[in-house]
Amino acid sequence: MGLIKSRKVKYSLLFLVILWVALIPVVAQTIAIETNATSLIFHVAFNGELRQSYFGEKIQPSAQKHISISSFAAYPTYGGYEVHEPALRVVHADGNLTTELVYVSHEQQKVKDGVTSTQIVLKDKFYPLTVTLHYKTYREEEIIEQWMEITHQENSDITLHNFFSSHLTFQQSAYWLTSFSGNWANEMNMEEVKLEDGMKVLESKLGVRSNQFGHAAFLLSLNGKSAEEHGTVVGGTLAWPGSWKLSFETDAQHNLKILAGINPYASQYILKPKEKFTTPTFLYTLSTKGKGEVTRRFHAWARKHNGIYKPERPRYTLLNNWEATYFDFNEPILKQIIGDASEMGIDLFLLDDGWFANKYPRDHDRAGLGDWAVNKKKLPNGIGELIKESKKKNVKFGIWIEPEMVNPKSELYETHPDWVISAAHREIDVSRNQLILDLSNPKVQDHVFGVVDHLLTQNPEIAYLKWDCNRYITNAGSSYLPAKQQSHLWVKYVEGLLDVLKRVRAKYPEVYLMLCSGGGGRIDYATLPYFDEYWISDNTDALDRIFIQWGATHFFPPIGLASHVSVVPNHNTQRTTPLKFRFDVAMAAKLGMDLQPKDMPAEEKLLSKGAIQEYGTFKHIIQDGELYRLLSPYESNRVALMYALPNQQEALVFSYLKKKEIYGNNQVLLLHGLDPKRNYRIKEVNKFGKDHSSIQHLTDKAFTGEFLMTYGIRFTMYNEYDSVVLQLVTE
Ligand code: GLA
Repeated sequence: MGLIKSRKVKYSLLFLVILWVALIPVVAQTIAIETNATSLIFHVAFNGELRQSYFGEKIQPSAQKHISISSFAAYPTYGGYEVHEPALRVVHADGNLTTELVYVSHEQQKVKDGVTSTQIVLKDKFYPLTVTLHYKTYREEEIIEQWMEITHQENSDITLHNFFSSHLTFQQSAYWLTSFSGNWANEMNMEEVKLEDGMKVLESKLGVRSNQFGHAAFLLSLNGKSAEEHGTVVGGTLAWPGSWKLSFETDAQHNLKILAGINPYASQYILKPKEKFTTPTFLYTLSTKGKGEVTRRFHAWARKHNGIYKPERPRYTLLNNWEATYFDFNEPILKQIIGDASEMGIDLFLLDDGWFANKYPRDHDRAGLGDWAVNKKKLPNGIGELIKESKKKNVKFGIWIEPEMVNPKSELYETHPDWVISAAHREIDVSRNQLILDLSNPKVQDHVFGVVDHLLTQNPEIAYLKWDCNRYITNAGSSYLPAKQQSHLWVKYVEGLLDVLKRVRAKYPEVYLMLCSGGGGRIDYATLPYFDEYWISDNTDALDRIFIQWGATHFFPPIGLASHVSVVPNHNTQRTTPLKFRFDVAMAAKLGMDLQPKDMPAEEKLLSKGAIQEYGTFKHIIQDGELYRLLSPYESNRVALMYALPNQQEALVFSYLKKKEIYGNNQVLLLHGLDPKRNYRIKEVNKFGKDHSSIQHLTDKAFTGEFLMTYGIRFTMYNEYDSVVLQLVTE
């Protein structure tokens, strides 16, 4: 009996050993998501759960075996032992609230040179529910793009409550978070705070114009405040023009968990069997060379991988009539503006709001929106006449539209009151006197596409469209979506919008598009790929713009950032700044103008003409250059930034003074991005009529890149709103 027992024990032990050996590959399964400098390492744990064991500077494959399996779920769900905010929360068909995911398989493929895609398939331990985590890595640009897909075969619908694109865990002693918040005419304010234990949330519940109060982007500095050129900083942004949420949960052990995705607030999504739900993508990078490197990586990625439309094509310098006339114009006025714009060397005239609607003329923002027929009183000869005039004056023609919106006082609303977003049995809630068309409805999508299509087929010489969007969702409700799916509106609207944009681009690949949303209310990497440029703010005050542009270019490419010279006192702030300062600020991005040229003194017109012409000689450095921030407007009275071409042949340096300094400001500008060995000749550009440079000791002299990056550029600035622009060219 005893012998039999001990044999049994022996066989059982043997069996266990065999099982253990057989399981080794599963237990030790490692999945590495890698760029040139970063590793994100996952392990499959003994219980089949996928864990994030490492995210940081590259760990060579030979050393990866030493990474131990962490206890951090890669994609935590509501259920099991998880008590933190879950990435996924599902109510199953039978009412079960919990989900427990285990690893099934993974695959990696090369998409193209430098781009690899990884899919990790997970499934619930009990329910037929599959979650696929997708990662796309851009090796050179160091960007990781992540999203999730979920599908199931339960016997009836399931409901998704949380459905985040990404979940990342960090184990450091302290975290500093920078956010980008604001409001109309005051966008992109940067604020850096230390994360305390608990939850910090950045979010938008606006659905449309979702960036009005903040952008779905952040910088996370590990173990200290962020610096430009050193320290570990993670930068992330969600590619989604709808409601978004970024949450940062720090526990008592200083572990930080970041969730990024669609805001689940009031957005539960009913998923039918076999239906697939795909989240937007979350783009992120981990830099060990400060936040400057985060920026350069996003810009390089946008330039190389179409983060913005046709990144290589030259942008037009345009003159917009918005601040020149607002709604108050007619054909002769516009012809005069076109003529003056042409004389100043402007490439394109952009006709803003107010050109349409007859029954309820668009003479103010209270009527006419939605009725896209030319207003016969203001423009009796149609847009065609203006295009003809522009052509005659050798200027291209662009026009403003806001096709997603409608004034209640419009023929469109009279015909289709059911097309607007509005909750049943509630008063309509107007904002800027307008309502949002319900883009979850395919008929409305066709209509919005039709507005663009009609305008462009009728006027094939329109070279540019400014696509505006001036309000966010309130009183959410759709008369198209079924009762049970009202909460889908937040997602379906965005899908409808992106679909329309895709159709527009398929048919009109050459038209330039500007992304505008009451200023910078909609800027993200899902929308930007359809647009050549974006309007970051209705605030054109040059001093405020320094801050706004500073914030925006942390993630979004400067060549797409339209920046317009306008009149003084500025319409928003009443501030008066010199014309040169206004140009020098606008020239650090994509230069344009927003004023009535007729009201400019002849000398200013001439100076503007010179500035526009000169901008044409160096704008390629902004388009293709790498941005280095030298002196921050948040930290010093003097502000400086520079662009250096990746081939290190040319660079541009901008220096501004915000306030008078009686004894002068002689802060050193330590340059970056130059070739230490090459000689760079310095030239002051945009001298604004002066025949001598204000910094004689530097101009037309050559210095080595090494000297400029160690000793730097040194010159004193004294006056409020002083500005200097220097171009550096290798000899
Ligand atoms: C928004 C835009 C402005 C202008 C107006 C027109 O506010 O941001 O640039 O186009 O609409 O109504």
